[in-house]
Amino acid sequence: MTDPVSMRRDGNVAIITIDNPPVNALRHAVRKGILDNVIAARDDASIEAIVLTGAGRTFVAGADITEFGKPPQSPHLIEVIATLDDVKKPTIAAVHGTPLGGGLELTMGCHFRVAAPGTRLGLPEIKLGLIPGAGGTQRLPRLVGIEKALPMILSGDPISAKDALAAGLVDDIIEGDLVAGAVKFARSVLAAKRPLQRVKDREDKLEDIRANPAKFDEIVAQHAKKTRGLHAPAAAIEAIRLTLDTPIDEAQKKERDLFLKLVVGEQSKSQRHIFFAEREAGKVPGIGKDVAPREIKKAAVIGAGTMGGGIAMNFANVGIPVTIVETSEDALKRGMATIEKNYQMSVQRGSLKAEDLSKRLALFTPTTDLNAIKDADIVIEAVFENMPIKKELFGRLEAIAKPGAVLATNTSYLDVNEIAQVTHRIGDVVGMHFFSPANVMKLLEIVRGKDTAPDVLATAIVVGRAIKKVPVVVGVCHGFVGNRMLSARSIEAEKLLLEGALPQDVDGALTEFGFPMGPFAMSDLAGIDVGWRSRKERGVRNEIADTLAEAGRFGQKTGKGFYLYEGRSARPDPEVEKLIVDASVRMGVKRRQVSKEEIIERLIYPMVNEGARILDEGIATRPGDIDVIWLYGYGFPAWRGGPMHWADTVGLAKIRDRLKELAKETGDKRHEPAALLNRLADEGGTFAGLATAKAA
Ligand SMILES: NC(=O)c1ccc[n+]([C@@H]2O[C@H](COP(=O)([O-])OP(=O)(O)OC[C@H]3O[C@@H](n4cnc5c(N)ncnc54)[C@H](O)[C@@H]3O)[C@@H](O)[C@H]2O)c1
Repeated sequence: MTDPVSMRRDGNVAIITIDNPPVNALRHAVRKGILDNVIAARDDASIEAIVLTGAGRTFVAGADITEFGKPPQSPHLIEVIATLDDVKKPTIAAVHGTPLGGGLELTMGCHFRVAAPGTRLGLPEIKLGLIPGAGGTQRLPRLVGIEKALPMILSGDPISAKDALAAGLVDDIIEGDLVAGAVKFARSVLAAKRPLQRVKDREDKLEDIRANPAKFDEIVAQHAKKTRGLHAPAAAIEAIRLTLDTPIDEAQKKERDLFLKLVVGEQSKSQRHIFFAEREAGKVPGIGKDVAPREIKKAAVIGAGTMGGGIAMNFANVGIPVTIVETSEDALKRGMATIEKNYQMSVQRGSLKAEDLSKRLALFTPTTDLNAIKDADIVIEAVFENMPIKKELFGRLEAIAKPGAVLATNTSYLDVNEIAQVTHRIGDVVGMHFFSPANVMKLLEIVRGKDTAPDVLATAIVVGRAIKKVPVVVGVCHGFVGNRMLSARSIEAEKLLLEGALPQDVDGALTEFGFPMGPFAMSDLAGIDVGWRSRKERGVRNEIADTLAEAGRFGQKTGKGFYLYEGRSARPDPEVEKLIVDASVRMGVKRRQVSKEEIIERLIYPMVNEGARILDEGIATRPGDIDVIWLYGYGFPAWRGGPMHWADTVGLAKIRDRLKELAKETGDKRHEPAALLNRLADEGGTFAGLATAKAA
C-alpha cells in the first residue's frame, strides 16, 4: 500500500497531502503520516511554512468510524493536533469538499484555514451520538463564538465556505487552484510577518459571554429543544460550557472523557449501527456494479392526490421535469394548488428562493391526457389503492409508455406481481413505495417483483438516491416491510385500549420511548376515516376506531378524533374515554391498569416478531434494512437503532418468552414466536450476528 500522506516542497513551503481515498478518513496510518510529515517539516530549517491539504474529492471528512470502540492506536488525533499547535512556522489548512468532524478538528490545529468555494465545514459527531473528541468543542467556540459554535455542534449540520469566512472559521476563500492559492497565502503571511496565534490561545470571541455567562443558557435554550433523552447533546453542552471558565488543556481532557463515555454507550452504538445499515441497505444481492441503471431524464406521476403531488415534487426539486396526470381538471387543479402552496411555504421558510419558485413550477406538466407520459423514462402510479383500477391503468400504460420506461407503483399493500402481470413488460414493473408526506419523508421502499429486471431495480435505487431518499429493497407481501410490521403494532394498540389503557397512555409510552408521536395521534393526523373506509370495504371492524369514525370524529381535520384539537394541539377528551370504556363493556373485556412497560412490550415485541418472519421469508435482506425502514419511515428513534437492533439490546430470549406468554394468555397465534426468533433465542444469538454471518 502506498503512503497515505506525502510531502513535497514549493520553495520554502512544505505541502503535506493526505491521500486516503475515498474521503481521507483519519485511520491510524493517516494520523501517523500527518504527524511524521509535520515533524519533518517543522524540523527542516529550510522550510518556512506548512500547507496541509487533501487529495481527491475532499479534505479529511472525519474519523475512520470502523475504529470506534476499538482500542485506540497512537498517535491519537489529539497528539497530531498538539504537535501542529506547537509549530512555530505558519501552518495553513487548505480544504475542499467536506472537512468534517476530525477533519475540521485537524484544521483547527493550524494557524490559518483557507477553503475552496463550495466547501462545507462541520462537526457532525452528534449524528452518531457522539461529540467531537479532539478539541472541537473547545476550538470551534474560540474561532466563531458560542452563538455560532453551539448550534453547529448540536445540529451536526455543516456550514458553507461563505458562512465559515463570515464567522471566522476560515481566513480566505480561494478561487482556482487551492494548493497554489494556499502557498500564496502562506507567503503573504510570511511577508507581512503576521502574528501566529494558535486557535487554543484565542480568547477574543469568548470575552463577552464570559462577562455574561447567563447568555450561555439562553443560547442553549434556543437550540436544545429536540434533545430529550439523548446523551450526546447534553455532553456537547457540558463540554462547550467549559470554554467559559476552564483552561483549554483541562477542558480537552474532560471533552475526551465525555467522548469516551458516549462511544461505549448504547445510544451511540445504535446510531452507528444505523449509519452502517443505511449504507448497506443500498446493496442488493445479485445486483452488482455490472448492472447499469437506465437513464432517467423525464418522469411522470399518475394521480395528484396526497401522494402523487409529493412524489412529483421530489423530481422537480432535483431539476427533473415531471408530467402529472389526473382524471379531471378539478383534481388536477387541486393537486397543483397543493404543490404550489408547499413551495410557497418553502419560500416563506427561506429554503427556496422567491425567484426560483416559478422555475420550479415550470418543471411540472399537469395534464388529464395519459398519452402525455409517452416521453417519460420513469412512470410512477399513485392512484387509488384499488387493484382493478391499478390493473386497468397498467394495461393502458403498456401501450403508451416508451420502450424501456420503468413502470412503478406506489401501492401500500397490493401485490406488485399481480399488477405486473397485466403488462407484457413484466421486467419493467417495480414498486416504489413512498411515505407521507412524500416530499418530506426520506424512506423509499423499493419493491422487487418476482420478475423485476435487475437494471430496473438498479434504476429505482439510483433514482431514489437522486431524489434524496433512502432506498431499501424489499420483497412482495401484504404491506411489504414497514406497513406489515405497523399492522402488528396497530392491532395491539387497539387491544390495549380495550383492556384498560387510554390513547394518551399508549401514545405517551411511545413518545417517552422516543417516537415523535404515538399511534393514536398518528391516526388523528392521517384521518381515522381512511382506515375505517378501507376496513368497511374489506368487511372488518376495529371496534374503537370505527366507533369514533361513525361519530364523525375523523381526527385533526374534524377537530376531534382520539383527542380534542385546538389547532394542532391535542388534549384528552372525556367523551373518548367513555366511548372506550363502553366498548370494553360491549366486547366483554374487564378493564385493568396497564403499565408503561407493558405498553412498550405489547407494541414493539410483536413488531420484532413480524420482523423476524419477514427475514425468514426473505422479504427483507438484512435486519439492518428493517431498522432503516423504521427509522426513516416511522420515526423509530435513531438512538435505539431500529426495532431489530433494539431487540438485540433487550435480549431475544426475553422477547421470545414474553411473546410465548402473550400467545398463551390471548390465544392469538400471531404472538407465537417466529421460527427465526426461536432459533436465535435458543442459541443465545442476535439479529446483528445473523447479519455478520451472512456477510462473512
Ligand atoms: N396516503 C398515504 O399515506 C400513502 C402512503 C404510501 C402509499 N400510498 C399509496 O399511494 C396511492 C395513492 O394514495 P393517496 O393517498 O395519494 O390517494 P388519494 O386519494 O389522495 O389520491 C389518488 C389520486 O389519484 C387520482 N386517480 C385515480 N385514478 C386515476 C387514474 N386512472 N388516472 C389518473 N389519476 C387517477 C384521483 O383522482 C386522486 O386524486 C395508493 O396506492 C396508496 O395506497 C398512500
